[in-house]
Amino acid sequence: VVTRREDYREPDWRVPEIALDFDLDPAATRVHATLQVERNGSHDAPLRLAGDGLLALVVRVDGVVAEDWTMDGDDLVVPLSGAAHTIETEVEIAPERNTQLMGLYASGGILCTQCEAEGFRRITFFPDRPDVLSKYKVKMTADKARFPVLLANGDPIAQGDLDGGKHWAEWHDPFPKPSYLFAIVAGDLVANRGSFMTMSGREVQLGIWVRLPDLPKTDHALHALKLSMAWDEKVYGREYDLDVFNIVAVDDFNFGAMENKGLNVFNSRYILADPDTATDYDYDAIAAVVAHEYFHNWSGNRITCRDWFQLSLKEGFTVFRDQSFSADQGSAAVKRIEDVRGLRASQFPEDAGPLAHPVRPDEYIEISNFYTATIYNKGAEVIRMMATILGPEKFRAATDLYFDRFDGTAATCEDFVQSMEQGGGVDLTQFRRWYSQAGTPRVSATLTQEGGRARLTLRQVVPPTPGQPVKEPMVLPLKVKLFGAVTGRALCDEQLVLLKDESHEILFENLPETPVLSINRGFSAPVVVETNRTAKDLAFLSAHDDDPFARYEAMQQLMLDTLVTSVANGTGDHQAVIDAVRNTLTDANLDRAFIAEAVLLPSDSFIGDQMTVVEPEAIFRAREALRQDLGKALATEWRAAYEGSLANRFEYSPAAKGARRLKTVALGYIAASGAADADGLAFDQFRGADNMTDRQGAMTTLVNGASPLREEALEAFYTRYQGNGLVLDKWFQTQALSSREDTLDRVERLAAHPDFTLSNPNRARSLIGAFSVNQRAFHDVSGRGYRFVADQLIALDKLNPQTAAKLLPPLGRWKRFDEGRAAKMRAELERIVATPELSKDMFEQASKSLD
Ligand code: ARG
Ligand code: ZN
Repeated sequence: VVTRREDYREPDWRVPEIALDFDLDPAATRVHATLQVERNGSHDAPLRLAGDGLLALVVRVDGVVAEDWTMDGDDLVVPLSGAAHTIETEVEIAPERNTQLMGLYASGGILCTQCEAEGFRRITFFPDRPDVLSKYKVKMTADKARFPVLLANGDPIAQGDLDGGKHWAEWHDPFPKPSYLFAIVAGDLVANRGSFMTMSGREVQLGIWVRLPDLPKTDHALHALKLSMAWDEKVYGREYDLDVFNIVAVDDFNFGAMENKGLNVFNSRYILADPDTATDYDYDAIAAVVAHEYFHNWSGNRITCRDWFQLSLKEGFTVFRDQSFSADQGSAAVKRIEDVRGLRASQFPEDAGPLAHPVRPDEYIEISNFYTATIYNKGAEVIRMMATILGPEKFRAATDLYFDRFDGTAATCEDFVQSMEQGGGVDLTQFRRWYSQAGTPRVSATLTQEGGRARLTLRQVVPPTPGQPVKEPMVLPLKVKLFGAVTGRALCDEQLVLLKDESHEILFENLPETPVLSINRGFSAPVVVETNRTAKDLAFLSAHDDDPFARYEAMQQLMLDTLVTSVANGTGDHQAVIDAVRNTLTDANLDRAFIAEAVLLPSDSFIGDQMTVVEPEAIFRAREALRQDLGKALATEWRAAYEGSLANRFEYSPAAKGARRLKTVALGYIAASGAADADGLAFDQFRGADNMTDRQGAMTTLVNGASPLREEALEAFYTRYQGNGLVLDKWFQTQALSSREDTLDRVERLAAHPDFTLSNPNRARSLIGAFSVNQRAFHDVSGRGYRFVADQLIALDKLNPQTAAKLLPPLGRWKRFDEGRAAKMRAELERIVATPELSKDMFEQASKSLD
């Protein structure tokens, strides 16, 4: 069944209030719901309440047991005569048997909920759509010994003890909200407590709830929460609105975290951290996700989505907000580089493949499949472009207008754009195409010079995508600047060029010297730019551009051009890259985090994305050859960088993080050079590390290499962290990402390891997800990699369709490969589609990938 955006209609019935009464038990939980329903407009439609796997034990209308209700599939249909009624239903559910992890489920003895997008209907019958806003009263009763803590949205109202070792608690949420923001948690939990004074002087009680042994790992998350609350007040003028804000960490979770009103539920990997078990990347991700979920309180909860086609209204905007928050905590340039690398690794391929869809999609079979890099990350880029076009003051005025005007409502992307137009005084008519057209625009930029004049010719093409064969030109905000090729001086101020037509020309006059083009500075538009810049120009920019992102970008382009040429020719000239890397590596004015990013080679898959037909082995060989040459030619410089980055004691600061990052990047190049002592160096770093960043970095270097020390390191790591699920995920993932030739064999063996399980999503992703982005191993010419992944996904689909479907896209990229591989990939997709009782999640992903 396909749901279409154009079919949106207001709900027939509103539910201004709901009271829920839970008698909690993992095997059999009773849910009693009382809904105040009101007819919306004049129509005679019955009340239709969505359910998913629910059986109504009793239905009452205005206190009287009703007999005239019917089931239409999973929906409960109740004929009603008046304009307003009280509806009661009772159901029984079994959280411990809920392997989908949607609705109410059990994770390590904790009962918790996940309702976005359509999980609430697995708990009780309800018009489970985001434009039905209700005030919730929730009562929970449970065994006090097993579930001493009972949490829900809003504020705690009352609690008490009962006979038989039971107790109860009641919570009220004064803010009307859609059902997807509902949450309860019951468990044996303890809190790291804090408080935050809001800008109007209200004190908010904060709690990060975990199991007792995890309590020491919650300080970083609590700190990040306080920083986020202060940041949203300062940057967007947004204040928190309840007396309590709770976060609960659980080990089994389908994605990162969930912004339930006043009660966020998190995947424990985005809460728990200490230096011994979490990498710097983990620390950063924790702060980013805590901020993201907190920011949803305004962009998502106070203003929610009218329907799920508007998902990017809250997700794109909230990602933009969390990216800006993270940029303000450390190096904004490095954050931008990381975000762009992520966009290119996940969103660009999505936009170029069979699952491409607009930021505001037109239709879906299963909404869970649309929590994508396009909705989230391209959506964030779209907001960023509007912020760029408006400038900071007007953008703030426009977001103020948006929050003010739509507070308490279920809004649309169109509402947001109109707020930008009115608050910013701009016309975004054509810009709206960013919401409706899929595909990554390609821009060609050609700079030609005659004497003191230069002409920049820009052209844009938006490639066809499924269902959208012909595209209209987009509005592309391109930041442009020219530098003198001799002096390195800026020849003009940075300009914001709005490319709106298929082509456009810009003239530069009175140029004192030959200009070099710097374009799409800061990655001002999420596009692919092709230029006529030479290797010399790129090397020059990588050393002299005054925009750090543009410096990084010039280096990446130089590396890519070199690698693509070597793949085509089987051999390449590496000198230009070597010189540019040396320059960056030895530039005393650059910080280490930036250097580490700039000297990293583009990934195998990103190199593949530049080619018409991806050749995994040739790409791997070309990249390894360049790595080796860089390692050898700059042997002294890598040593110096390594030794200059050693630290005495762990510290979590931007400078210390940068040093750790550069150290491991340098170690990688030392190993690539074939230096005799490289393995020993890595093993010493592994053994001597006082933090996970250094330990995992060294282990990764060993795992990619040929030394017998690699098995020793893996063994030691496993023994040390046995029983710590989050760290074991790293153990699986590091092996699945290995660049070694025998990775596929090893991954097959790991799937049979006693610690491997498909029922924990993090574990499934750590092996299958990691393996299928390992281009060389996954695309093994035998097709065994494809078969392995398909087998695992078919098995996972029976437990957890949502997580299985999320892991399918790599198999769908068959068009990018040679006929032999493509046929094998298609055969696996066909096998998946033909699997009996396949979920609609998997069906949608696999069948669309075959088209
Ligand atoms: N809203 C959550 C977040 O971004 C994610 C919910 C994902 N839901 C899903 N069905 N995939 O913060
Ligand atoms: Zn979100």
